Amino acid sequence: MKRYTPDSTRSQIDAIMAGFGVDDATRTVCTDVMFATDLSGVDSHGISMLPIYHREIAAGTTDPDAVPEVTRSAGAFSLIDGHRGFGHTAAHLGMREAIAKAKEMGIGLGSVGNANHFGAAGYYARMAAEEGLMGMALCSTREALQTPTGSRHPLMGTNPLAFAAPVTGEEPIVIDMASSVVPLNKVKVYGLKGEPLPAEWVVDDAGEVETDAGAAYAGLCSHDDRHGLVPIGGRGTLSGGHKGYALATMIQLLSAAIPGADQPGSKAGFHDVGYFFLAIDTELINPGVAADYAKELRDTLRGLEPVDPAHPVQVAGDPETRIRAERSAHGIPLADTLVGQLQHVCADTGAEFLLAEQV
Ligand SMILES: NC(=O)c1ccc[n+]([C@@H]2O[C@H](COP(=O)([O-])OP(=O)(O)OC[C@H]3O[C@@H](n4cnc5c(N)ncnc54)[C@H](O)[C@@H]3O)[C@@H](O)[C@H]2O)c1
Repeated sequence: MKRYTPDSTRSQIDAIMAGFGVDDATRTVCTDVMFATDLSGVDSHGISMLPIYHREIAAGTTDPDAVPEVTRSAGAFSLIDGHRGFGHTAAHLGMREAIAKAKEMGIGLGSVGNANHFGAAGYYARMAAEEGLMGMALCSTREALQTPTGSRHPLMGTNPLAFAAPVTGEEPIVIDMASSVVPLNKVKVYGLKGEPLPAEWVVDDAGEVETDAGAAYAGLCSHDDRHGLVPIGGRGTLSGGHKGYALATMIQLLSAAIPGADQPGSKAGFHDVGYFFLAIDTELINPGVAADYAKELRDTLRGLEPVDPAHPVQVAGDPETRIRAERSAHGIPLADTLVGQLQHVCADTGAEFLLAEQV
């Protein structure tokens, strides 16, 4: 896999967003979110989403001209209408509202509906931490990908959850994860390598584990209603799969029930996705405590004796911090297939092809 310079990756995202015809504010936000995602190693949700967004614009399910709008704001909450535009801008506004409310009242909620895919949830939680606040970002689902415990068929999505907390003098702690045991992308990677799935990641409609990665990926992508990702905790209840399923249910309710977004499950055309953003200004509530606490906790966790000395205990966000440093120095790896797809998007939108290989 070739590596591309971070600067050219950012410029490429920016050029394609301009090619989509979005306004400057939308372009700036979307570019920043996708580039930060690629730099952090979350390859499934950055530049690789552009060919999908291109198709969604062509299909009319994403409106590149839409500008999200605050439709109700009172006390500690704001309700936002994404107007079916790019999810990143609606999410950015949602978290900005939550942050503003929290700075005034200690706690703030941004609830977003009528929205599309927003990329990696961690970006938005991190926005709060960068302002000295704790932040949480949740998103409802649009595709039936996750099989609820005991069901033959999938219904929930990979409903992501992100949480960030400031740490005195250091990078924040950032938890950013799907509520299924793995996201779809990890199944795809095994399918491309022609290797069997290594664990209980996908079940079929008999509740049996599907280890054929190609069949699992094809079934999930075609929404054959047979294959589903397993919730965090695994298949059945023995290792707590019902608790992962419960977590996905909570994420769905907080994200979609408040703004009145769609029920879970695949749907033709526009699927109304909802988001939930929470910000907490701990300095207003109890000054001088939380960020020091987070530092002490993370130091203690990192200091635990590891099972394997070659693999020190990490805290959420540590892998991404390491990858950011590594990619900043050595470039961002992009699969040849993806680069080909991006060339096609450039040709179709009139955007310049700008990716430059890292030397
Ligand atoms: N927009 C959507 O609809 C959607 C849906 C699902 C997932 N996503 C995104 O997909 C991305 C990937 O999700 P994922 O579940 O594959 O994440 P992951 O499994 O790679 O990481 C999950 C979390 O675990 C932490 N982590 C990883 N290794 C660790 C270790 N050894 N010790 C301690 N912590 C560790 C990471 O820092 C991260 O916070 C996320 O950015 C998520 O927001 C988005």
